Amino acid sequence: MRFTDGLVDAQTAWFARLDPMLPAAVHPPDGDVITAALPSGERAAGVVVASTLSPESTPSLWSALRVWELHPLVGAAGMPELLTQWQLMMSRRSPGADSSCLVTWPSRDARATQAFLAHGLVPLSTLAIRTGPPVLSPGALTVRRARTTDMEVALALATAELEYSAQVGGTVLRAGSRRIKEAALGRHIAQGDPVFLAERDGIAVALAECWFSDSTAGSWSETRLPHGRWGYVNSLSVTPDARGTGVGRELMSVVHQELARAGAERTFLYFNPPNPLSTVFWARQGYRPLWTIWETRPASALR
Ligand SMILES: CC(C)(COP(=O)(O)OP(=O)(O)OC[C@H]1O[C@@H](n2cnc3c(N)ncnc32)[C@H](O)[C@@H]1OP(=O)(O)O)[C@@H](O)C(=O)NCCC(=O)NCCS
Repeated sequence: MRFTDGLVDAQTAWFARLDPMLPAAVHPPDGDVITAALPSGERAAGVVVASTLSPESTPSLWSALRVWELHPLVGAAGMPELLTQWQLMMSRRSPGADSSCLVTWPSRDARATQAFLAHGLVPLSTLAIRTGPPVLSPGALTVRRARTTDMEVALALATAELEYSAQVGGTVLRAGSRRIKEAALGRHIAQGDPVFLAERDGIAVALAECWFSDSTAGSWSETRLPHGRWGYVNSLSVTPDARGTGVGRELMSVVHQELARAGAERTFLYFNPPNPLSTVFWARQGYRPLWTIWETRPASALR
């Protein structure tokens, strides 16, 4: 008998009660198993996966380099007990400064939220979804697909977003940030992903970097999203002088229409709850939290 038997189904049932947009729970990946006995006599379990990123990799722009990620199998109860066991386990590790403890959990699980906060975890990002029809917002902006010849302005806009997000969220400015971002953005533009540039009077004022994500059986996406084709908004940046003047709204109106035309009527993105601009903006755009990514940075801050 596997230790996960019964727990995955119980967790799926709990997710369905919490939020109709959550996909079914999946078996956790291989890693260090932790278990906890509950006062009810039941048990909670989880798998902790340790990973190391290269400072030259794209995920290093939003992640610590050494990550301990907990995959809980607790269903409706057991998060407080499991987190206590996790903390015990981490107290025997020696994480460096560029490290984190990370756990992704349904945003609407208020009782688990209380447990995460009690253990020093911070809601550093939210995976939010939008499932309604595009809202039209016509204006004077010219929105077009970005081309490889636009790299210089596109990169300047993407860098402005990184710099802002590093102050108010999980983005990490690395020595090679610009180079890493240039390579990723260049790849997406070159392979024809939906990357949009907005211009006002011929001057680039905003960039939306998007692509498609198919949630299918066995894919990473199905651990986060119901099956189907999703549009993913990786980054949105409005030049500092033009913020708050309707540029973001007008650009996203085109983006949502274009993604829907290509078969992605539903879209998702990550935002940082401490970001005072994007939180209000994405709510106005019809996005709502599905998953919260809780972190301590460094990993030793788990208490
Ligand atoms: C977040 C961002 C993309 C929003 O674009 P924007 O052009 O400034 O936003 P808009 O002027 O189009 O505002 C659209 C709506 O959000 C509201 N809004 C935007 N910023 C707001 C703020 N700081 N406070 C209150 N409301 C705000 C507007 O009132 C408007 O509401 P409406 O649709 O009812 O009229 C832009 O501010 C930005 O680039 N910020 C820095 C980078 C960043 O945070 N990117 C997102 C990372 S996830």
